[in-house]
Amino acid sequence: MNISFAAPGLPATGALVTGVLEGKKLSPTAAAIDKKTGGAINRAISASRFSGRKMEMLEVVAPHGLKNSRVLLVGLGDPEKLEVRDLQELGGAAFARLARSGDRDIAFIIDAIKGASAEGTQRAAHYAYGALLRSYRFDKYRTKQKAEDKPSIRKLTMHVASPQKARALMRSLEKVCDGVFFTRNLVSEPANVIYPASFATRARELTKLGVKVQVLGEAAMAKMGMGALLGVGQGSTRESKLVVMRWDGAPKARGEARKPLAFVGKGITFDTGGISIKPAAGMEDMKWDMGGAGVVAGLMRALAGRKAKVNVVGVCALAENMPGGNAQRPGDIVTSMSGQTIEVLNTDAEGRLVLADALWYTQERFKPRAIVDLATLTGAIIVSLGHEHAGLFSNDDELSKALTKAGMATGEKVWRLPLGKAYDELLNTDAADMKNIGGGRAGGSITAAQFLQRFIQEGTAWAHLDIAGVTWSSKDKATVPKGGTAFGVRLLDELVAANYEG
Ligand code: BES
Ligand code: MN
Ligand code: ZN
Repeated sequence: MNISFAAPGLPATGALVTGVLEGKKLSPTAAAIDKKTGGAINRAISASRFSGRKMEMLEVVAPHGLKNSRVLLVGLGDPEKLEVRDLQELGGAAFARLARSGDRDIAFIIDAIKGASAEGTQRAAHYAYGALLRSYRFDKYRTKQKAEDKPSIRKLTMHVASPQKARALMRSLEKVCDGVFFTRNLVSEPANVIYPASFATRARELTKLGVKVQVLGEAAMAKMGMGALLGVGQGSTRESKLVVMRWDGAPKARGEARKPLAFVGKGITFDTGGISIKPAAGMEDMKWDMGGAGVVAGLMRALAGRKAKVNVVGVCALAENMPGGNAQRPGDIVTSMSGQTIEVLNTDAEGRLVLADALWYTQERFKPRAIVDLATLTGAIIVSLGHEHAGLFSNDDELSKALTKAGMATGEKVWRLPLGKAYDELLNTDAADMKNIGGGRAGGSITAAQFLQRFIQEGTAWAHLDIAGVTWSSKDKATVPKGGTAFGVRLLDELVAANYEG
């Protein structure tokens, strides 16, 4: 979709979008349209229940006196209370309402509003950003869709005072959106297309943006002693990979700011469960068990795209968890890169195994100032938090607060759960240093996090995000169409922007 910014004005054709405040208070543009159409706007409002509350919409089709196809009235509610996230959701919802209308062009007319929490330029850019986020589609494998079932919108024009200022803001938002789409594409692809090596090939594309990308294969990982990660992939014909990406956006930084921030993602390109095989129903969902790694790659794309002034490393732990003649067996004992041994009592608890080695490697090699991992780690987190929040586990209150705040700002919300010695002890076993399940289903997300913490070194600030409930959505949201959500890209981009840049 083409997005442009233009001076205030009413285009003569296409769809118009304009705001109405709480209490049916028309924006100057809505009032001007009402006048031009002999009162069609006010009549339409009177004939409906539309009152201008936030996110309400009313479509007035082909009003007399205008050549435009339609006018979409969007409720802005109380303009003093509009947050950036609301603006994005308004833009996304308005776009979705018109996406299949038959119109090719939409114009948002953005008036100055007295007392509004955000000025026109900011509103224009964030409406456009929301619309762009919502416009994502993964339809490359649909060869028989009829034209009339596809979106018709080609062009979005934002009419606003100082359009060049809005465009400048949009430029960096667009880069974040590029990262979101990069992740959504990876997550949406089936497992016959995205497997460790093909994921790595896509990650290599980021070199064009100045990201340094290194791909380690099984021989290199064996040399480093990554027995936990390699055990997971040994039943698959696809070679496991570790993708290491670096964005050095602050080459001149000194002291603490010189050290990179690290993001580590679980990248199980398909999780059958292995020999502890999963039931058939719903197993297709496990194509998105690489969602954490997908977010790490998309985040690197966003940060490099907008040239974030920060040093960051992204590590993706990629393997396919399959049964087979060479697959890992329940009861096998593997030695991780850290030297700690693990009794694999359930081959379906594989995410923690690949992360154990990826986390250790990342700390040993980069000595990061903080490390955040993302993983579709447990079904139990869906039982706890549903599809609204990601689970947050951390050894650092400040990092937790910053993540929670970034979650509120972006709408990618996180909820902190506890860690503690009593949970940790559930991982003890007679045969090795630890087992890979807590025994029983109680506190399944916590024991998984506790397992990861055994691979976090003393003094390293760490947060783990269990994104199993939020990586895929079965329903459309204002800025996120159903399917792969890329939950985490906007959250972590905001975490970086608000706490670690400059
Ligand atoms: N990838 C799954 C977790 C998952 C489940 C993600 C549903 C998204 C939706 C993970 O590898 C897994 O299988 N976890 C097990 C752990 C158990 C064996 C201790 C689980 O949650 O059942
Ligand atoms: Mn599993
Ligand atoms: Zn898994």
